[in-house]
Amino acid sequence: AMERAYAPYSKFKVGAALLTNNGTIYTGCNIENSSYSLTCCAERVAIFTAIANNERDFNKLAIIANSEHPVSPCGACRHVMSECFTQTMPIILANTKGDYEETTLEQLLPNSFRLS
Ligand code: THU
Repeated sequence: AMERAYAPYSKFKVGAALLTNNGTIYTGCNIENSSYSLTCCAERVAIFTAIANNERDFNKLAIIANSEHPVSPCGACRHVMSECFTQTMPIILANTKGDYEETTLEQLLPNSFRLS
């Protein structure tokens, strides 16, 4: 998934893989735009692709980049995750060197905004 990134501006390629509870994996890559703020991160592409395919029941997310440390999701992605992941669903942050850590939304975005 990471290799499919369209990142001509940052050259920072990111891949994401989202496993559903019925065993399907939806992947995503970052897709940049010359109007920079229109860029979409890899994990949001994976989540939106899954939802567009009628999936709502998620098991695990992995994110990878060719970075010094395991890649950590941006604030916008954390809030999108908070819309459809439980607080305890495993989220694996990795880099291509093989470093990885497991975290959860409980750690990445505690006390996020909710309408109710
Ligand atoms: N990016 C992601 O795709 N996911 C992250 O978790 C962090 C950042 C992308 C956005 C942009 O295309 C590039 O990485 C540099 O910020």
